[in-house]
Amino acid sequence: MCGIVGIVGWQPVSERLVDALKRLEYRGYDSAGVATITDGALHRRRSEGKLINLETRLKEEPLSGTIGIAHTRWATHGAPTEGNAHPHFTDGVAVVHNGIIENFAELKNELGVGAEFQTETDTEVVAHLLARHRREGMGRGEAVHTMLKRVRGAYALAILFEDDPSTIMAARNGPPLAIGHGNGEMFLGSDAIALAPFTNEITYLMDGDWAIVGRTGAQIFDFDGRPVERARQTSKASASLATKGSHRHFMEKEIHEQPEVIAHALAHYIDFADNRADTVAGLDFARIPSLAISACGTAYFAGLIGKYWFERYARLPVEIDVASEFRYRDIPLSPQSAALFISQSGETADTLASLRYCKELGLKIGAVVNVGDSTIAREADAVFPILAGSEIGVASTKAFTCQLAVLASLAIGAAKARGTVSEDEGQALVRNLAEMPRIMGHVLNSIQSKIELLARDLSKCDHVLYLGRGTSFPLAMEGALKLKEISYIHAEGYAAGELKHGPIALIDQNMPVIVIAPHDRFFYKTLSNMEEVAARGGRIILITDEKGAAASNRDTMHTIVLPAVDEIIAPMIFSLPIQLLAYHTAILMGTDVDQPRNLAKSVTVE
Ligand code: F6R
Repeated sequence: MCGIVGIVGWQPVSERLVDALKRLEYRGYDSAGVATITDGALHRRRSEGKLINLETRLKEEPLSGTIGIAHTRWATHGAPTEGNAHPHFTDGVAVVHNGIIENFAELKNELGVGAEFQTETDTEVVAHLLARHRREGMGRGEAVHTMLKRVRGAYALAILFEDDPSTIMAARNGPPLAIGHGNGEMFLGSDAIALAPFTNEITYLMDGDWAIVGRTGAQIFDFDGRPVERARQTSKASASLATKGSHRHFMEKEIHEQPEVIAHALAHYIDFADNRADTVAGLDFARIPSLAISACGTAYFAGLIGKYWFERYARLPVEIDVASEFRYRDIPLSPQSAALFISQSGETADTLASLRYCKELGLKIGAVVNVGDSTIAREADAVFPILAGSEIGVASTKAFTCQLAVLASLAIGAAKARGTVSEDEGQALVRNLAEMPRIMGHVLNSIQSKIELLARDLSKCDHVLYLGRGTSFPLAMEGALKLKEISYIHAEGYAAGELKHGPIALIDQNMPVIVIAPHDRFFYKTLSNMEEVAARGGRIILITDEKGAAASNRDTMHTIVLPAVDEIIAPMIFSLPIQLLAYHTAILMGTDVDQPRNLAKSVTVE
């Protein structure tokens, strides 16, 4: 998941490399490093921890040079220390890598005593292999090509050879890698956003490609070493860095942006004049026998809620799994079916692999993505943008609710296409969606102080249980994920009906149970489960709506009351207290809200 940049230029590069890394810090922030060639020798600066440490280091010990590579790391093999930070140096070779070299142990054994390994990383074998091939007399290109034939796994690589201060070698298999075309300078980056301050003329390498990037152009080769042409395109990535505005954190800003971005997303899918949601072409929902959905983490929970909608409204059977399981499960899928992949970044390795698996089986592919020129978007037959704007906070908030808004619109469109809802029913659902931005704005303004009080209690707990039924069940899992990832408090989300099948054993006075219960078809069932918790001395936090609050007379530790809304928009409205609760609890816990430990925003390894 790490981020990579490279510049072959005529002006000093180290400051610009760090600036580009700032745009890639979402890919990992365990350590960072830069290498350049000056006076015929490789030099580097590396630092443990966030990029700011590397910046400080470079101020103390500047690095000159007009060619360089840089890296921000999300550790896979080896602790996040300075010693394990990229670039790795071996005998005149410098390497930065994003991915995992799966056969590194085997290669390390083979390289044997002659190779002195200085790090615990998988990446270092790449540098050693290249150094060995050079000692064997190979030219730089041949050495890279031969090395690529030996390594197995996922990689985006940028390589400097000390004896060539005018080119960077690059290779891609899995994680994305883009070449940027400048004016007398060329660039490399994990994405177009990193390169936006320098150029928006981009060539994406395909899997198996490797390239020799010089100051005025790049030669690209396929895995067999044949020269290939790859399209040059103009990226829309913005050069300006997103700011927090008046907010303390990006996460807070992104939570509060939701009414606006949801309105934007809905406008893309819905004809408000006619209250129709069948305006967006893409997948032929009328004809497909079933739909497969796959995604990871928060995006997977959005997909689970989508499953409820597609099945209920469009009577369309949905097969869904987390992408890391989906890709290996040998699911019997009909080539007449369609598959939908949900990903904010559009680069998640497991989701991409599931997409390619379905494509090979002949299914039509839809992608619900935020990053329009991501790999998942580029490989899909139909792209459904969520239009959330850039999401910087590692914990997903506005992307989740925009994914839901898009899935709801698609489900209503599918229902219309399949004739499973009448004209009137379809219009009523759309009218409800249209109400959402206004209700979200109202909720965000009205629950803040209650949530802050509740967060105070939650921050004293070690464990929290979230319960819900129907679409509130995936929301319970999303609530638990949000809390644990940014506050580091252990939390689990369960289907309320499952409580008695095991987790009820955990109930005591120390573990709050957050019950997500809009006044829907399941409300009284959930209420019974809540009673089961109360009967065992459990402390209840009820998140419900006005009707639910009136119907429940149980004493709770806290009750958050939201406006009563139609079932189709309840998941988006009920997401708000869940997100705010995680956010305020994390603040009280003193964690790094936007960049929580051990995580990264884009997960390009398995
Ligand atoms: C949690 C979170 C993650 C992502 C997951 C998939 O807040 O953001 O669980 O949802 O890593 O990422 P994308 O959507 O980029 O495929």
